[in-house]
Amino acid sequence: MESLSSSFLPRWSINTKSIHSHAATTPILPFLNISSVKTEDKPQTTAGGGATTIKPPPSTTTYVNQTQTIKQAEPPSLPATIFNAFDNFINAFIDPPLKPSVDPKYVLSDNFAPVDELPPTACEVVEGALPPSLDGAYIRNGPNPQFLPRGPYHLFDGDGMLHAIKISKGKATLCSRYVKTYKYKIEREKGFPVIPNVFGGFNGLSASAARGAVTVARVLARQFNPINGIGLANTSLALLGGRLYALCESDLPYSVKVDADGEIHTLGRHDFDGKLVMSMTAHPKIDPETGETFAFRYGPVPPFLTLFRINAAGEKQPDVPIFSMSPSFLHDFAITKKYAIFNEIQIGMNPIEMMAGGSAVGANPGKVPRIGVIRRYAADESEMRWFEVPGFNTIHAINAWDEDDGNTIVLVAPNILSVEHTLERMDLIHASIEKVKIDLKRGMVSRHPVSTRNLDFGVINPAFVGRKHKYVYAAVGNPLPKVSGVVKLDVSVSDGDRRDCIVASRLFGPGCFAGEPFFVAREPDNSNADEDDGYVVAYVHNENTGESRFLVMDAKSPTLETVAAVRLPRRVPYGFHGLFVRERDLNKL
Ligand SMILES: [Fe+2]
Repeated sequence: MESLSSSFLPRWSINTKSIHSHAATTPILPFLNISSVKTEDKPQTTAGGGATTIKPPPSTTTYVNQTQTIKQAEPPSLPATIFNAFDNFINAFIDPPLKPSVDPKYVLSDNFAPVDELPPTACEVVEGALPPSLDGAYIRNGPNPQFLPRGPYHLFDGDGMLHAIKISKGKATLCSRYVKTYKYKIEREKGFPVIPNVFGGFNGLSASAARGAVTVARVLARQFNPINGIGLANTSLALLGGRLYALCESDLPYSVKVDADGEIHTLGRHDFDGKLVMSMTAHPKIDPETGETFAFRYGPVPPFLTLFRINAAGEKQPDVPIFSMSPSFLHDFAITKKYAIFNEIQIGMNPIEMMAGGSAVGANPGKVPRIGVIRRYAADESEMRWFEVPGFNTIHAINAWDEDDGNTIVLVAPNILSVEHTLERMDLIHASIEKVKIDLKRGMVSRHPVSTRNLDFGVINPAFVGRKHKYVYAAVGNPLPKVSGVVKLDVSVSDGDRRDCIVASRLFGPGCFAGEPFFVAREPDNSNADEDDGYVVAYVHNENTGESRFLVMDAKSPTLETVAAVRLPRRVPYGFHGLFVRERDLNKL
């Protein structure tokens, strides 16, 4: 989720021990002063998880089995040396004191610290057995900065790294690789950061202006070309049109693949034959029956929202620009068989506050959130309808479906309560999953919570996208983005009895945290299989032992019992969204 909330790292999550060990094994790192590291001579380290390793300075020529060649880093040119000196000056003398949300020693503490790449490495099944139907790869995306930050750094600023556990015949291998984005490659070649951090870089008016000037100078000096994209590909993955993509809403998708050995390859930035410009959401929706993908992009200039569709063959269809939405943060949406549903929330661009030294993005308490509904095959904006829904601010959607012959839409999504905290103190917000009914005939919206727990990162059986479903598997925020457990909800319970819909629950134990769960059907080709006949999978990290595991849980069990636990050869940092890709689909990539 490369979204806006900033205090992903609550104060009490600081683990100075990990920072100590980090600094202690990295001679050039001044103690507790990561922001002043000179990246030109700084190796990347991994911290936490017990073992700490030092990454050699950039010297790679070609990644094993990678299609892209990355040239060896050369000594910085004179302009690069000057620009880097300016960057260091901004970090040291112009930046205001760093808030915890952009202070690297907070943001990269504990299991948020980056790790090195890992070639396919065998894993040990330490509990139960991996079921035969779980053949394929679970791949999770997340931020993993290539260089330790010199200045303000937000969790969402990290280079995308994929962690893929490939499972075949009950055996598993783990592979961790950066998505070889343009940003990653050019900075790898140069040996220092070139493209500024988008989220952390807006840190007060003076520092923002100074960074902007240095960035323009770097472009004029041809250190990088923004036309090639500055995205991080760090948010999610999607399998659409026969290709697997690493996604980030600020750029085009990057095509990736996992081969038979479990190695991850970046195939390249994909613009759908030149038809996709700028960017697309990291949360496209794939219709399980038609194979079509519905997606959108949003931005700070009109049209603030653009809907589009990619057919089952992977061919992008014409844009549908929507001018009636105000410039708002729009991370996710939902589809039904007939409609696409958007939530215009109170968070948006905040230019006035930014001019005063505040955040570039902020919450506007005077703005009434709206839900927008448009026929998903609409040719233009004329069919768009907006409904005011006070107090409804979602970052993620879970699913939606049609009822009453398409005259009613039901949307299930976590509503972020106290949305004003989303930017600075995510640990204070509470995400309450709601069921929202939109009566299109009468123009009325009704809503009620389906659970009182703090839940986000909700997923369903992918075969039910856009269809009426019962079950949701959601992450328990404790506080978010740390996830201390997973619950299963039956949202149909609330139709007759408005009580909490949690029907199964699993906490990971003291010091153990995961991220988004993912549901994998046991028999994906059996249309008569129960909706919850399958497995809930996740990476779980134990902060007390430094060990990470891949956990497979029985989705039907009221305690979400362990089916298999795989000890990973190296810790997997906390991250964002994941995907399970079956062997037959991997083989087609
Ligand atoms: Fe997300």
